[in-house]
Amino acid sequence: MTDKISYNSYLKVNTLLDLQSPESQKKGKEAHDEMLFIIIHQTYELWFKQILHELNSVLSMFKGNYVQEKNLGTVISRFDRIIEIQKVLVSQITILETMTPMDFLEFRDLLTPSSGFQSAQFRLIENKLGMTYKDRIQYGKKRYNKFLNTKESDLVLNSENEPSLFTLLEMWLERTPFLQMDDFDFWTSYKKSVDIMINNDLKHIKSNIELDEQTMKNSLNQYKSIKHTYNALFDEQKYIKLQNDGYRRLSQKATLGALFIQLYRDEPVLQLPHKLLTQLVNIDHLFTSWRNRHRLLVYRMIGVKIGTGGSSGHSYLKKTSDKHSIFSDIANLSTYIIPRSLLPELPTTIKQQLGFFFTYGK
Ligand code: HEM
Repeated sequence: MTDKISYNSYLKVNTLLDLQSPESQKKGKEAHDEMLFIIIHQTYELWFKQILHELNSVLSMFKGNYVQEKNLGTVISRFDRIIEIQKVLVSQITILETMTPMDFLEFRDLLTPSSGFQSAQFRLIENKLGMTYKDRIQYGKKRYNKFLNTKESDLVLNSENEPSLFTLLEMWLERTPFLQMDDFDFWTSYKKSVDIMINNDLKHIKSNIELDEQTMKNSLNQYKSIKHTYNALFDEQKYIKLQNDGYRRLSQKATLGALFIQLYRDEPVLQLPHKLLTQLVNIDHLFTSWRNRHRLLVYRMIGVKIGTGGSSGHSYLKKTSDKHSIFSDIANLSTYIIPRSLLPELPTTIKQQLGFFFTYGK
């Protein structure tokens, strides 16, 4: 007769609770806080596993020439789950902050040269989201995967070569319908609205008596560069230059697709795509928040000492929180958003296609 399934057998609780073996205990000088240090890292790894589980399923739904409309709802609920997990990842740092730097020093040296830098799952998440090797902040003289064992390194390298969420999203956005509309020149109307908005903003800056001469000059210069990026949005050569200079990553076509979705988010067919773009910005921001919280934790624990993995510690981590975002081009679309009142009216035929069948279908 087989044993009935139980809480313990199903969750393998005994095995799980057997997985914490503090180094300080093995050395016969137990450091009380090492248990917390181990458990918190293990819970992070479990949540990373769940994030990868969700991410892999989303990636498989994005592959192919089109994303099945009916899958979009599932993609969005998987992203919702990732976002909620990320909030936990950020907030649980405070639990570790109940450990003081002095308590940490009781066992820190026993951990050298291990480091969070060797978290293969963290690297997989980064790569699957769309981090590229050339965009990585350099860490020591070795390639980042060389800090992992052979099996993990192979996994991480494979993930560099697979289509990432960024790449699949770009392809999906490039396929956005309605960018070319037979007899309606949407982008010319949009450009006119942008000109009105920028001229309005400039008028406000020039008439703001609170601004001193230098601040006004800076603001006007800033608008010069905003105008330049607006122009580049519609000029292939200028856009490619922005990309080559590292100011943009997303292709021009995908950017226009995303912008169209952002501008006409109220149209029924675009509501889910708009939600999805917002989620990607949230996922990016939450990882940046985690990187920032972790960096502050590190500063609090070890100041500016080098990390156990051998990096410059806090300074390396600060650079990653500034530079390691993936979907900043989507967040940056806000630069191009115009007020609803200036939004060009779409022709009825297009509005019909963007609406629900029962509203426009008869
Ligand atoms: C006392 C607490 C902690 C300290 C002092 C600390 C310190 C550091 C340092 C100095 C680095 C840079 C690499 C190195 O030289 O080692 C690093 C990287 C890292 N740590 Fe922590 N860490 C702590 C807690 C955590 C926790 C709880 C996690 C959860 C998983 C974590 C995950 C990571 C990851 C993923 C990296 C790589 C970041 C990157 O390369 O972008 N760390 N940590």
